[in-house]
Amino acid sequence: MSDEYVLELEHIRKEYPGVVALKDVTLQLKKGEILALIGENGAGKSTLIKCCSGAVVPTSGKIRVNGKEYDRMTPQLAAENGIAIIYQEFNNVAELSAAENLFLGRPIRKGITVDFKAMEREAQKAFDQLRIKINPKALMKDLTVGFQQMVEIAKAIQQDAKVLIMDEPSAPLTSNEVESMFRVVELLRSQGVSIIYISHRLEEIFRLSDRIEVIRDGEYIDTLITKEATVDELIHLMVGREMTQQYPAREPCIQNDKVVLECKGVYGNGDEDINLQIHAGEVLGLGGLVGAGRTELAEVLFGAKPKEAGQILLNGKEINPKSPREAIDLGIALVPEDRKRHGALLGSSIKHNIGMPIYERISTSGVINRKVEKDTAEQYRKDIQIKTPTLDQKVKNLSGGNQQKVILAKWLAANCQLIIFDEPTRGIDVGAKYEIYKLINDLVASGKSVLMISSEIEELMGMSDRILVLAEHRITGELQKTDFNADVFMTYASAIVDGQEN
Ligand SMILES: Nc1ncnc2c1ncn2[C@@H]1O[C@H](COP(=O)(O)OP(=O)(O)OP(=O)(O)O)[C@@H](O)[C@H]1O
Ligand SMILES: [Mg+2]
Repeated sequence: MSDEYVLELEHIRKEYPGVVALKDVTLQLKKGEILALIGENGAGKSTLIKCCSGAVVPTSGKIRVNGKEYDRMTPQLAAENGIAIIYQEFNNVAELSAAENLFLGRPIRKGITVDFKAMEREAQKAFDQLRIKINPKALMKDLTVGFQQMVEIAKAIQQDAKVLIMDEPSAPLTSNEVESMFRVVELLRSQGVSIIYISHRLEEIFRLSDRIEVIRDGEYIDTLITKEATVDELIHLMVGREMTQQYPAREPCIQNDKVVLECKGVYGNGDEDINLQIHAGEVLGLGGLVGAGRTELAEVLFGAKPKEAGQILLNGKEINPKSPREAIDLGIALVPEDRKRHGALLGSSIKHNIGMPIYERISTSGVINRKVEKDTAEQYRKDIQIKTPTLDQKVKNLSGGNQQKVILAKWLAANCQLIIFDEPTRGIDVGAKYEIYKLINDLVASGKSVLMISSEIEELMGMSDRILVLAEHRITGELQKTDFNADVFMTYASAIVDGQEN
């Protein structure tokens, strides 16, 4: 071993019943470098880094930290060695404050009582360092996914990590927040912290990393020096085939004379005076910064949050969905952004999850037609490439990206007239993204309407017919396909927002 490496994983193998998650993966992390780890959904990235924290025990292989060899890590050993991980699915407690979450499992004490004041002070320091405004007293459940993520990052920083492993940290953040996070990551590197950075966004990888390791199907493929790598090369190494196009072409299919959904002066859940129309065959993009009110608007339309004033019209008739169930019956579906909380029954099978919203349709006198259930699930497994040995697999055993695909499949199967996607490709690899975009194209081609919330401007511009921009719970601008422009978009997105970011 050379002193060059702070962390080395050698020939790691991990078997689960019926699945070999990692066949043989080796990884070497240098002191003070940012090593990007990339690969398709289900390639084994999360499993590999969980071996570094002790959350997963490898079937075989060696782990070396500063030259000391271990067969396996334990959470305690990892902590002693200064290894901190920010997981893809955060492990926070919704009912506790940001400060309490930051000190989860290791509270600051004064005598025998917990010293909340001290924890709040320390949390504040960590947030200041990240230049993010979070009230340490705020309950986790009241924070957006973006801010919850920031608490996780602050937690690692507060613990003085020497090796920081980040599993898709940017996925739920908006561009401004990503910038703040990059600054912090770069600062940590300059202080000698070594970082493993997992992301599906190649532009980030190029900006941030020193080297890039690619894995595919649980196997080590290659490690490249970032400066010498190209996008095409990386995609090729990841998917094992050529891929040139990012957004599938779509024949224009908007039916301009057919308004499916209309909001007239809708107030609710913080949103103010929202007016909009969505047509049949249209993909309407909804952009803005985290906290702009995009998710809230979606929840009002979906009956998950109360509407306080204004009118929602569906096919010209006023509707007032009071619950998601009602919204679904009316023909409105919402594919939510936070899959852990709202999206899936993690303990149930893939088949069951996909079948859930359509049980009524596929049942006769209360008996579910199992064949239809299976065929439907099988169809989507093929269409969007859900990587699993069997449809009976529990959703919680799937990789993050594949869980997202199950939720997408579930709502697509519901066959609604208006489908609202909240960050549909968060954490989805390049190949599967393309398949999801194709499905969205198929939906609108068949006359359905899509409202797509996304924090990726590229994705909004690549997929929408029209983009509405929200800031502080109001629509601040509208962009037509012919004049999509990222700078104009950002002007609208930060229109009234003042003192919120940075
Ligand atoms: N507890 C488990 N039981 C069974 N299979 C598992 C379990 N955990 C992971 N797997 C399987 O191991 C493989 C690798 O999953 P992993 O989560 O490491 O992928 P990933 O590269 O992080 O993907 P993503 O980009 O979607 O997050 C997948 O096929 C997954 O289904
Ligand atoms: Mg993962």
